[in-house]
Amino acid sequence: MTPLVLPNAVEILLSALLVLGASVWIGGLVTITVVNASTHAVLTAADRTALFRNLGPRYLTMAMVAALIVAISGGLLLAARPFDDITIDILVLVAALVAATIAGVAQARRMTRLRCAAHEAADPGQFADRLKRGSFTARLLRTAIGLISLALFVMAFVALGSAQ
Ligand code: HEM
Repeated sequence: MTPLVLPNAVEILLSALLVLGASVWIGGLVTITVVNASTHAVLTAADRTALFRNLGPRYLTMAMVAALIVAISGGLLLAARPFDDITIDILVLVAALVAATIAGVAQARRMTRLRCAAHEAADPGQFADRLKRGSFTARLLRTAIGLISLALFVMAFVALGSAQ
């Protein structure tokens, strides 16, 4: 596959967009992790659920805009370099990140519904096991999203280094 030929000015613009999108994505993950810790320390369980019911969809919109910017700018820059093992590694990581994010959002939505049901129930204790299992799964999925994002960040520089 012949690499895409990009004028230098376009390559610089795409690199700037890639850095912008990636910083919003990674910065967002760091920020929501810190916010999540503070909600445990400060809010009641019901207020915390209400906060994430409101914050989750807004965060999703922001994250999807950042992901789109990274996909377009990163995809074009990837197409402008030779197709090799690094390209395959990056594409595999992107597929894993998309899968982990879709699973994470679906699971988070189930969790907020479960938490709401527990808050409204006469006996919230009956939800304890499912909430505990759900929290563990949520932590696994969020850790996966974080680690795959970090691996992609590193691979971007491996790709940059191999072009020198
Ligand atoms: C790309 C990354 C992420 C996206 C797109 C995302 C999006 C969402 C969405 C859409 C909801 C559901 C809101 C609803 O009820 O409609 C949600 C809930 C939630 N999110 Fe995220 N989120 C992400 C990462 C994280 C991370 C890294 C954390 C914390 C470390 C986090 C913590 C939470 C919590 C605590 C809830 C409430 C559900 C529960 O109690 O488990 N999210 N998120």
